[in-house]
Amino acid sequence: MTPPRNSTAARDIASVLHPFTDAKAHQVNGPVVISRGKGVRVFDDQGKEYIESVAGLWCASLGFDNERLVQAAATQMRKLPFYHAFAGKSHDPMVDLAEMLLERAPLSSNGLPMSKAFFANSGSEANDSAIKMIWYMNNAMGRPAKKKIIARLKGYHGITLAAACLTGLPANHKLFDLPLPGFHHVSTPHHYHNALPGETEEAFATRLAQEIDDLIVKEGPETVAAFWAEPVMGAGGVIVPPATYFEKVQAVLKKHDVLFVADEVICGFHRTGNPWGSQTMGIQPDILVCAKALSASFLPISAVIINEAVYQGIVEGSSSVGTFGHGFTYSGHPVPAAVAIETLKIYDEINIGGHVAEVGPHLQQQLRARFANHPLVGEIRGVGLIAGLEMVADKASHTNFDPAQKVGPRMMKLGEQHGVILRAMTNDVLGFSPPLIITKAEVDEMLDRVSRALDELTVQLRRESIAAV
Ligand SMILES: Cc1ncc(COP(=O)(O)O)c(C=O)c1O
Repeated sequence: MTPPRNSTAARDIASVLHPFTDAKAHQVNGPVVISRGKGVRVFDDQGKEYIESVAGLWCASLGFDNERLVQAAATQMRKLPFYHAFAGKSHDPMVDLAEMLLERAPLSSNGLPMSKAFFANSGSEANDSAIKMIWYMNNAMGRPAKKKIIARLKGYHGITLAAACLTGLPANHKLFDLPLPGFHHVSTPHHYHNALPGETEEAFATRLAQEIDDLIVKEGPETVAAFWAEPVMGAGGVIVPPATYFEKVQAVLKKHDVLFVADEVICGFHRTGNPWGSQTMGIQPDILVCAKALSASFLPISAVIINEAVYQGIVEGSSSVGTFGHGFTYSGHPVPAAVAIETLKIYDEINIGGHVAEVGPHLQQQLRARFANHPLVGEIRGVGLIAGLEMVADKASHTNFDPAQKVGPRMMKLGEQHGVILRAMTNDVLGFSPPLIITKAEVDEMLDRVSRALDELTVQLRRESIAAV
């Protein structure tokens, strides 16, 4: 249907290039225009209400309204709307936030607390910054060959030039001439699809750690700088690694003096049932990257948290060059920093960790109880308040649908019709990552809507397969 002239939809089609959207299809389909939000719900420009099953982009942790965060931003804007951190300039919001992050950060690989926080504006920028820090540090330490980076197929780390090289998803590489040399991808730790027949989770984990070991040895340990991982993969399809995976991977990295960078952009701030995904998964990173729930996504801000060894490398380098020649105009911007501080205070005051400990298991249990036996559902996975539901063409063989059937996108559309905004990823996986404040009753309401959409999709697919015979 052509949107009325001068509507937001028509003006959108005429003026906006959308991220992660098929630009040609968008000219026909047009946008979904979201006008306002409240709690776990958003409302479109026609007033239709939706439950946001993914908190926007896995990020609106406190939902879609919060007066305290509005006040924190307004107060800071009145006091100091902008200042920067270049050439040693500083301000209280940045320092307060750095302290709060260091107090909360997990222990580093050396068993000691993290040392410093660097600020950027997005997860991608933070990952790019971390890559540059590692290269810089290794040059400063007289190890100029130690630069290669290992990430994982289906990992998602963002889309800026270097972060997109870390990302292991074809859509972020095709036509972009990426990844650049020096970035390697190892297997996805997904037992459901990638384990050998009869292979236990532990044996699968051993095999994957061996793959990393073999790659490092083949490339030469003196050339491999870091390994990048989300504790639980998000955009790649919510993939929880097999038991003992990170324990075994960390042993390999230690052996070869390769840094572990934990990308906590989704997992950070209680998403997996602990303050950090690293804690849920037993990771002691050298560098931790966070964003999204850091400010409840009310304003853009991200952080790279580094340990003392990395910091000392940067100290060496910057004293030889005369400056650490990296940073953004908005690094540590006082307004998002003030919002992030308020966000972290709210998490503490409402005991968001305790809340997720109650509601997360409910989400996991309800997903399994309602959908595990559904004919379209192959696997349900997740931990805390993050989950994936994979739709398959054949349950027994774990065979996915032909992408041409567009099962995931159709489910998203049906979800909208039934009042739930869904995110479908590669292999028709629905990701669930609702605002952390969601209640059990809202989880049930969300899943009722998902259930109605899924049943409608089942009927459609059945009709199509009958028609095809
Ligand atoms: C794990 C992870 N890392 C990095 C990013 C990139 O963050 P941004 O979109 O803010 O650049 C994302 C975004 O979804 C993410 O999920």
